[in-house]
Amino acid sequence: MLAVSVRRGVENKILFSAKDLCTWFELRRWGFFRVGSVKAVDGVSFELRRGETITIVGESGCGKSTLAKTILGLCLPARGELNFDGKRLNGLNTRQMRSHRSKIGYIQQDPYGALPPFMTVRRILEEPLRINKTGKKEEMKRRVREVLAEVKLTPVEDFIDKFPHMLSGGQQQRVVIARSIVMKPRLIVADEPISMLDASVRIEILELIRGLQHAHNLGVIYITHDLSTVRHFSEHIAVMYGAKFAEKAKVKDILDNPLHPYTRALLSAVPKLDPANVTTFKEVPPGEPPSLLKPPSGCRFHPRCYAIIKGLCDVESPLEFEAKKGHSVACWLYRK
Ligand SMILES: Nc1ncnc2c1ncn2[C@@H]1O[C@H](COP(=O)(O)OP(=O)(O)OP(=O)(O)O)[C@@H](O)[C@H]1O
Ligand code: SF4
Ligand SMILES: [Mg+2]
Repeated sequence: MLAVSVRRGVENKILFSAKDLCTWFELRRWGFFRVGSVKAVDGVSFELRRGETITIVGESGCGKSTLAKTILGLCLPARGELNFDGKRLNGLNTRQMRSHRSKIGYIQQDPYGALPPFMTVRRILEEPLRINKTGKKEEMKRRVREVLAEVKLTPVEDFIDKFPHMLSGGQQQRVVIARSIVMKPRLIVADEPISMLDASVRIEILELIRGLQHAHNLGVIYITHDLSTVRHFSEHIAVMYGAKFAEKAKVKDILDNPLHPYTRALLSAVPKLDPANVTTFKEVPPGEPPSLLKPPSGCRFHPRCYAIIKGLCDVESPLEFEAKKGHSVACWLYRK
């Protein structure tokens, strides 16, 4: 169970929004002949307020990391609109984009790969401050010590001059989290922040991120495969399938009343402990995730769906229907 941390409350103002966002990668054979486009994010829309978390969940290859990179400005969208803190992000120049990036913290999946091996913790944390020219040397030093204390790497002297290989996986991820908040961002994008960590430190790391969110009233975009942690960690969920959102709602609405056949399958695949003390695992639906180079016609889930409406689902892509206020589902079963 996650510890309770002091909460400042969700603001009504939208912090971040994406509207019909598309990120496509062009594939060329021998770098010349165009083969087609991998549509890794294909028409995604959502909104997030300060103090809230949205969890993006879906199978491997469905486009979660590409969505994260597009939000961070590391991939350019082919289409769609991105707004952050009241500003439109499309079409920013390099200087403006650098300033945008400094307001969004990024927590990567693999802490060891994310940290430069030849830099000490001190240099790793000073680097963003130096690049963004924030304050004098003394202020930078103070800020580095402050963030190390915030991520509970204390006493600070025991960690500040170490190299990443001298730290455990959990401690490395705390350094990555410290780096993500050193510029005092308003939004954090956490792409599978616990999937490479030992089971014993996973909850600690999630608690740490949640605690920082509450202390600084941050918006968090949390990307994961693991639905079991979501109830305690998030306010909203968007279920992603084949580069699109299949279903989007408040956490409780999705976990207690999933509507989309894919969401139902995902939830039934979460291991459960039964009274006979036997852990039951179920499979996600048979079949392969769709190719994003040549996606199936109609609904991208139709080759794996038990509820397919022949002649409709395999021909026309479903629209997003609002099943109830704030609960949308892209499935023909819910057409009005
Ligand atoms: N730079 C790229 N060039 C071409 N295709 C890419 C590129 N980056 C990602 N892709 C493709 O885009 C699709 C989505 O990849 P992405 O990494 O976003 O998936 P993911 O949901 O994060 O998967 P995982 O859960 O395994 O991390 C995949 O088919 C991937 O091969
Ligand atoms: S639109 Fe049709 S194929 Fe797609 S999930 Fe709904 S019922 Fe299944
Ligand atoms: Mg990924």
